[in-house]
Amino acid sequence: MLLQLWKQFRDSRVGRSVFRVGVPASNLERAQAAVSSFLLHFQPAKVNRRTLQFSATLGLGLISLYLFIILTVTGVLLMFYYVPSTNQAYQDMKDLEFVVTAGLVLRNMHRWAAHLMVISVLLHLCRVFYTAAYKAPREFNWLVGVCLLLLTLGLSFTGYLLPWDQLAFWAITVGTSIAAYAPVVGEKLKFLLLGGNVVGQSALLRFYVLHVVVLPLAALFLMAVHLWRVRKDGGLAQPGEAEPAQTVVGLAELPQNKTYGLMELARGTTPAVGVQPEEEVFTWPNLVFREMLLFLGVTALVLVLAIFWNAPLEELANPVHPPNPAKAPWYFLGLQELVAHSAFWGGVVVPALIVVALVMLPYLDRKRVGIGVWFARERKLAVTIFTVCLVAATVLTLVGSAFRGPNWALQVPWKPLAIEER
Ligand code: HEM
Repeated sequence: MLLQLWKQFRDSRVGRSVFRVGVPASNLERAQAAVSSFLLHFQPAKVNRRTLQFSATLGLGLISLYLFIILTVTGVLLMFYYVPSTNQAYQDMKDLEFVVTAGLVLRNMHRWAAHLMVISVLLHLCRVFYTAAYKAPREFNWLVGVCLLLLTLGLSFTGYLLPWDQLAFWAITVGTSIAAYAPVVGEKLKFLLLGGNVVGQSALLRFYVLHVVVLPLAALFLMAVHLWRVRKDGGLAQPGEAEPAQTVVGLAELPQNKTYGLMELARGTTPAVGVQPEEEVFTWPNLVFREMLLFLGVTALVLVLAIFWNAPLEELANPVHPPNPAKAPWYFLGLQELVAHSAFWGGVVVPALIVVALVMLPYLDRKRVGIGVWFARERKLAVTIFTVCLVAATVLTLVGSAFRGPNWALQVPWKPLAIEER
């Protein structure tokens, strides 16, 4: 019945004006489907068979994108119920839990998708590193990725404050104090972010505007650039791909004794040499179906998490009663752990070094070896350094989140509470 109605609509004059290509049956129509559809035109008509394998990307870039979509949809729905006022925000959270139909699941979905997005973006960065996919011609896309990572952290951090409970209030108080350690600009940055010296109404409003308008728009724009660059850089990185040509500044700079294809001129790179036609498959349906399946999988995962686990909501924010210990959001706990030893190192040196190292990486490590290969032997040194940093960051984060108790003293998480602590 529904299928019949859909077919009738698709074959009608209105339907044909929207869907110019039906379900493709021939190779020509498959190519047309990719080129003429708004959503599909980000992708080429054909893709390399190898890049379709799950092991090539682990789907992490797409998972990050899908989580962003889920966050946008659930975020807009949450906006219908949420007022960014210190008198109202916490009550709105309670209403979502007890009054609004499916409000709790909605809030849970938003919360778990946000945590998952931070994790998936970090894992995507690791995948790109371990497959050396940041090397030429993808250096710029790596930089766009670094900005996307910072935006993702910014989105999560600004969202953290909105429930206006004890967890939110003190996590942001600790997080912004870490930012204040930056020399010269630190205190000013904190003041600008909070709209004052302490977390209050101005901070809540600023975080809200950043969270629902400024950062999502910036992320959306950069994601479009990022995906467009994946395509313009000749698709995903693969072993044995051709060396990119020098950047073409003007046509006059090209050797004039050679004929160029339109794509070469548009990309400023040499085409993939040695790619046989049989190595390529049509985007529709090979890639599109995998993408749809992944989207369904990600949505189902977030939904299941949201149904079975509730997002935390502690008591109303109380500026005079800090919890002991007061902890930053989990992804900053490694830094907080360092700050506990040295504010200068944890608050200034290490975060600055991480960002600078990420930005410089594709311009320092330029040798064209190991591209598209996981943990290539020729990159032993780079892989070892990165892995040591990764393990150190993970251990510090784990210590900060699970092994620190009152007064930041070391504790074991599985130690049973003394009777008087229960
Ligand atoms: C919101 C965050 C991000 C989204 C939505 C995103 C999305 C994507 C997607 C869909 C791809 C195509 C292949 C894949 O699925 O892996 C991709 C590739 C790529 N991403 Fe990201 N990405 C994000 C963050 C990052 C970060 C943090 C970096 C690194 C700092 C990065 C660097 C790259 C590079 C260099 C490629 C090309 C990889 C290749 O050719 O194999 N991206 N990204």
